[in-house]
Amino acid sequence: MYRSRVSGCGSYLPEKVLSNADLEKLVDTSDQWIRERTGMERRHIAASNECTSDLGLVAAQRALTAAGLEASALDLIIFATVSPDQIMPSTACVLQQKLGCPGVPAFDLSAACSGFLYGLSLADQAVRTGWAKNVLVVGAEVLHNFINYKDRETCILFGDAAGAFVLSRAETDSTGLLQDSFLRAEGALSDLLDIPGGGSKRPPNPESFNQGDHFLRMKGREIFKHAVRVMSSSCELILERNKISIQDVDWLVPHQANKRIMEAVAEKLAFPLTKVVNVVHEMGNTSAATIPVAFDMAVQDGRLKRGDQVLMTAFGAGLTAGSLLLRY
Ligand code: ACO
Repeated sequence: MYRSRVSGCGSYLPEKVLSNADLEKLVDTSDQWIRERTGMERRHIAASNECTSDLGLVAAQRALTAAGLEASALDLIIFATVSPDQIMPSTACVLQQKLGCPGVPAFDLSAACSGFLYGLSLADQAVRTGWAKNVLVVGAEVLHNFINYKDRETCILFGDAAGAFVLSRAETDSTGLLQDSFLRAEGALSDLLDIPGGGSKRPPNPESFNQGDHFLRMKGREIFKHAVRVMSSSCELILERNKISIQDVDWLVPHQANKRIMEAVAEKLAFPLTKVVNVVHEMGNTSAATIPVAFDMAVQDGRLKRGDQVLMTAFGAGLTAGSLLLRY
């Protein structure tokens, strides 16, 4: 068996910003309410000519540059998203064409906000077994097209972004080793967060469009409780399984859904908030993109260094969840 390592990471936030002040003009809300309840100050919104593969392309190119690799060196592309360019073909195949690496197998992965951790876990298996040497994992979303900007309970939360890692086969003295991953799902809770329309159950038609079936729906309070429960228990499980104490963790990189959710998870784990990578003020909830973007931002600003013990955790629609240990 081989081991995999993070050989490069990259991220991209679109230029246009939607601030709390902008949202005050759209719905009955306030900057103070949004900051206190979520920690969010702004989100980035893709331009009208930018789709999910475009965001993913920039993040992927940055990750490949950081890894010192050409796209032609890739053996697999995994694209985690719930806002694909279109239903078919996969956004991964569109990205493969934009990267200019014909022949490389590519597929989309739908696990909502846990999608990036699901993707990393599968990529790790592909490298460990020797099936692949270099795998590109992208988490990218253009969520604003699925948000009802008349619904104050959801429209304040979400933004657009992309992040990417290249996982490569490790040499004996490599840094960046992926140690372990844990994934779970609770399908019985799928009605807490969904986009009901656009698929085979409620195909797009004028009636479903008028009912707003293509917009994201959420039971916020319920999601909040489950988020804290599954993220903290996923962290405890993976730490115990690897005989690593929470005191040995240098950085916790949680899914950036809400500042209070991250604080509650840290409290449950008795982990200091100063070591939680929290960039939710800068980008809101960008679903599958939050973890690689937060991770890359912490690398870029010098907080997260090679050799640091990193613990990641996520939850998302499904409900999906997971955790991952990485010695960066
Ligand atoms: N501005 C002002 N008031 C608001 C707003 C708003 N934007 N939204 C709701 N309110 C009101 C409510 O109507 C309610 O009023 P009432 O007391 O008169 O009934 C009051 O504020 C409190 O509402 P709560 O729902 O109890 O507020 P809460 O403190 O739970 O915060 C929030 C709401 C921010 C949505 C929180 O529940 C949350 O973050 N939940 C998790 C959401 C999440 O993570 N979703 C994505 C998960 S998966 C993924 O990432 C895709």
